[in-house]
Amino acid sequence: MTGINRRELGLGLGAATLSAALGGRAAAAQAPGTGPGTAAASAKDALSFPADFLWGCATASYQIEGAVKEDGRGETVWDAYARTPGKIADGSNGDVACDSYHRYAEDIALLKALGVKAYRFSVAWSRIFPSGSGKPNQKGLDYYNRLIDGLLAAGIEPHMTLFHWDLPTGLKGGWQSRDTALAFADYAGFMAGKTSDRVKHFMTVNELRCFTDLAYWNGNKAPALRLPMDQVNQVRHHGVLAHGLGVQAIRAQAKAGTQVGLADNATIFVPAIETPEHIDATRKAMREENAMFLTAIMEGRYIDSYLAAQGKDAPKVQAGDMAAIGSALDFVSLNVYTANTVRAADTPGGYEILPHLANSPRMASPWLNVSPEALYWSIRLVSELWKPRKLYISENGCSADDPVAKDGKVYDADRVMYLRNYITHMHRAAREGYPIAGYFLWSLMDNFEWEDGYTKLFGIHHVDFKTQKRTPKLSADWYRELIRTNRLV
Ligand code: NOJ
Repeated sequence: MTGINRRELGLGLGAATLSAALGGRAAAAQAPGTGPGTAAASAKDALSFPADFLWGCATASYQIEGAVKEDGRGETVWDAYARTPGKIADGSNGDVACDSYHRYAEDIALLKALGVKAYRFSVAWSRIFPSGSGKPNQKGLDYYNRLIDGLLAAGIEPHMTLFHWDLPTGLKGGWQSRDTALAFADYAGFMAGKTSDRVKHFMTVNELRCFTDLAYWNGNKAPALRLPMDQVNQVRHHGVLAHGLGVQAIRAQAKAGTQVGLADNATIFVPAIETPEHIDATRKAMREENAMFLTAIMEGRYIDSYLAAQGKDAPKVQAGDMAAIGSALDFVSLNVYTANTVRAADTPGGYEILPHLANSPRMASPWLNVSPEALYWSIRLVSELWKPRKLYISENGCSADDPVAKDGKVYDADRVMYLRNYITHMHRAAREGYPIAGYFLWSLMDNFEWEDGYTKLFGIHHVDFKTQKRTPKLSADWYRELIRTNRLV
């Protein structure tokens, strides 16, 4: 060691600290594997993602496609809802949106320029079956064939979601009717039969809670009803049943090697403090608060606490329903935006969900409380509770203020901050060995944000809705670099 004795320095330090203290000259003389270069290299490795980690972007049909009256597309509940005065914040709708129906090739080019390996998009059910069932519409299928083929030609894996809320109005009773679940299965099987020669990942439904509770109970998503609890529970049951029957239909029609899952927005909980008692309480909250959706799907039953809480309002279940709902999945995908903090309650085995406070950090959407740990705990708790074969984050991202600078660019440093923090926590889950296989950023581009219209934008590409020009925001530059290096940046 170039004449300096480690003991003489009085350092009881680890190799990295010691090398830093000694500087380059001493480091050069050190044994291989202990110098600063090596320390930096291993720190670099510690920030890397697995080589086959799947980076992607996500969108959904009604939010980007436009062309709502083209090529035989049937009407959906969102077309009808957006036309109702006063329902959408800016009075807008998805009639044109990002016009991706016509500009899909341009959007594939955006994906390619980002370097993503996968694209999650949804199929508009009413382009395939204009009234929800009956005779298929070839022109609708042709569109998705063009999209799939274009993605594959660009080296991007298509991940197809079959239902992202744009329910055909031709399905009488909507999700109140059990027949809608059966019609969904027929449609899902049809799409698998037609596209699984090229599409290897199918997600049945997107965000059960949003198209059931928020649409039939809270009344702020189409069709915006406020039903009594027994009917809400039945709607929820039809939602999970559609998923389960859809899985079975896809399996029956798809080519070998096709993987099936769903994209759910389970309510996510994080422990207030990382101690066994708070973690146990959080795991319990995760299972019980998602009893009507993900828990039912992963366990093939409604757990006792849910049935007891609902009493006479519990869903009416037919023979075979729960087995279908609990169909084994190839993967589980989670849409993760926010979380609630849980602490172990004072009563043994109980949990308390702490409220979000007025000044907790939020992004532009008032519901979007910043909770980066959600991306670790969602993966860990779902893994511990149900041991899925594989997990994806099917959505994560945020709305932001997004002012356009003088040079025409959006410098969304706040979105970069949000993404970097969330992805850091996902990295922890990967490092600890949980089976997280990929991540889809919501969203590729600014789009129609449901009841918020175009007032809340989630894109990493800015869209000028007058000209349809797409421009990468700072966050797109950041994501491109993350993908290129495959490590936290
Ligand atoms: C989840 C939904 O799937 C998506 O449609 C929506 O735009 C994002 N959350 C942001 O709210």
